[in-house]
Parts: sequence; C-alpha cells; structure tokens
Amino acid sequence: MTDTTKKRVFSGVQPTGNFHIGNYLGATKNWVADQHNYDNVFCIVDLHAITLPQDPAELYRKSREVALIYLACGLDLEHCAIFIQSHIPAHSELTWLLNCITPLGWLERMTQYKDKSAKQDSIGTGLIDYPVLMASDILLYDTDYVPVGADQKQHIELTRDVAQRFNHLYGDTFVIPQGTFPEAGARIMGLDVPTMKMSKSSDKGGHALNLLDPPKVLKKSIMRATTDSLNNIAFDLENQPGVTNLLTIYQTITGQDEESIINQFSGQGYGTLKKQVAEAVISTLEPVQKRYHEMADDPSYIDQLLKDGAERVRPIAENRLRVVQERLGLRK
Ligand code: TYM
Repeated sequence: MTDTTKKRVFSGVQPTGNFHIGNYLGATKNWVADQHNYDNVFCIVDLHAITLPQDPAELYRKSREVALIYLACGLDLEHCAIFIQSHIPAHSELTWLLNCITPLGWLERMTQYKDKSAKQDSIGTGLIDYPVLMASDILLYDTDYVPVGADQKQHIELTRDVAQRFNHLYGDTFVIPQGTFPEAGARIMGLDVPTMKMSKSSDKGGHALNLLDPPKVLKKSIMRATTDSLNNIAFDLENQPGVTNLLTIYQTITGQDEESIINQFSGQGYGTLKKQVAEAVISTLEPVQKRYHEMADDPSYIDQLLKDGAERVRPIAENRLRVVQERLGLRK
C-alpha cells in the first residue's frame, strides 16, 4: 500500500455475526485475486457495526477476528493496509460534514435501512446515517474502485451522489468511485431459504457457510440445503433457486463456466451435486482456516498489524479531511 501510481481500492466488512462464504465469494476473494494490481485499503468497519446494538467485548473480539480472516484469505500486507475504522477519527468527522449536504430523502430511500429498521423497535440515528459513514470511508481515500457484493450497489450509488453534490457545491474535492461486482458470487443466498441473501445476522444452523466452520459442519449444512423436486441441474434462479445457489457457489470457487458445470453434472442427482459442492468448499476453506488458527495463537501480532495499518492510512485520510474543511470554510 505504497504505490501511488496504482489505482486505489477500498472495501470493508462489518465485525458482526459470522464471516460467511457470501462475504468471501462476493468480496474478499476478489480483493485477494486483484491485490497486485491496485493500491489497497481494507477496513474493519466497527462504527457501522454499532448502528445496531452490539455486545462490546464481542465487538472488540470480532474486529480482530475479521482482520485475521482477511490475512488468512490471502491479503498481503505488501499490497494492502488493513485497519479498524474507529482508529481513524477522520471517518466520523467527514461523516458529519457530509451529513450537512446529504438530503434526508436520499437516506430514507435506502433498502437496507428500510429492511433493518423494520426489524427494530427503536431506531438509532446512526442506522439511517449508515450510508453517509460508508461514503466517508470511501471518499477519504480518493478511492477509484470499491469491490463489494450486489447488496452494496445502492450504497455505492449514494456515495457517488454525495461526492458529486459536494464537488458541485464546493469545487472538485472527491474522486468519484466506482463499485465493482463479481460476475458470479455477487449474491450468495441462504442455504435454508435460497430466495433470501445469506446473512451474517442469522445464526440459524444450515443458513450460512461460515468461514471458520469445521468441515463436518460445512458438509452437513450443504447436504441439507433446500433444493426442489424437479430433479434437474440447471442455473435457473426463478424456478430452482436452491440448485442455482449451489451451482453458483461451485462456479465461483472452481472458476468454471456455467456450460462446463452443467455438462459435468448432467444426469446426476442432487446428492452428487451437494457432495461435490461440499468437497469444493471444504478444500477451499481448509487452508484458510489453518492459516487463521496459526495466527490466532499470537494476539500481539494482530494488534501490531492493526496499529501499523492505521498509521499507513492516517495521512491519506487526514489530508483529504483537511481539504474538505478548507472548502467548507472551517479552516484556512
Ligand atoms: P457486510 O459486512 O455486510 O459484507 C461484507 C461484504 O460481503 C458482501 N456480501 C455478500 N456478497 C455475496 N453474497 C452475500 N450473501 C453477501 N453478503 C455480504 C457485501 O456486499 C460486502 O462487500 N456496508 C458494508 C461495509 C462497508 C463498506 C464500506 C464496504 C462499510 N464501509 C466502504 C465497502 C466500502 C457491509 O455492511 O458489508
């Protein structure tokens, strides 16, 4: 994360619930694959996590767990800075400044806000402001590309709108970032209910494939995944969402195209498909889990790494914040 001739990538994960294969296939796997081509900044977004109630000790633990998972998945500190969002106060400060130019109506339209707020009795202001904090994360680092899953599309659009509005009102200040979404794996569905996105907030067994689940648990969840009674192996999201989800997981992991996968499984039953998916998932995650457990033995390593990560990105964030403050007339 030192090469300024390269385009910048920024992305992040919330340290809540369990990091699952949707997070991996939709986001982290692609960060790892492309890390050599970009100047990368990867964040653990603990301030986003507290927009819903969290247990403090668990939040602290999860933040470090996510950082280790990033590394275990293959992020290389030669190419990436990894840090915790709350360690750089410029994120909160820029959020306030951008709040003041963001129409409330833009935030009320966000589908994630509508979904999340519908499940809460009492809604904190932070929940509706979530996308402005996300815009601040991205805009502070002059980000060119934001590799994320499909569920973040609307938030990236809002980020672009906020940046354009600021640039229009106060002069060119922010780079307008672009979201990038994988062709396959941008939306992995729950194994139990394949019409709903695989989600960190569900702790129901058989819903998600968690990155740190032991092989036995992964296999059990896949073998009991919901399919259908058509006995036909096809990518058909509308009529066969469960089978399509399993095929998509397989496709994203193996890198094969749809046609060769259909040829491979044609005439086979769902049991065979599930076994093959389980094998592919387990053999992908086993080395990740091994690296994770090796590093988890040394907690001081992770604290030092996060401290170094914050020091590497701090000047970039503070510099952009200073320009925004100047443009707004807060400082000379
Ligand atoms: P989060 O923590 O919900 O998810 C982390 C990443 O995983 C992707 N993802 C999925 N991809 C495919 N299938 C799924 N079922 C699935 N579920 C999640 C998400 O799209 C995301 O890329 N708001 C963000 C965190 C964030 C952020 C940012 C991201 C905060 N600031 C700045 C990018 C840039 C979120 O809640 O991700």
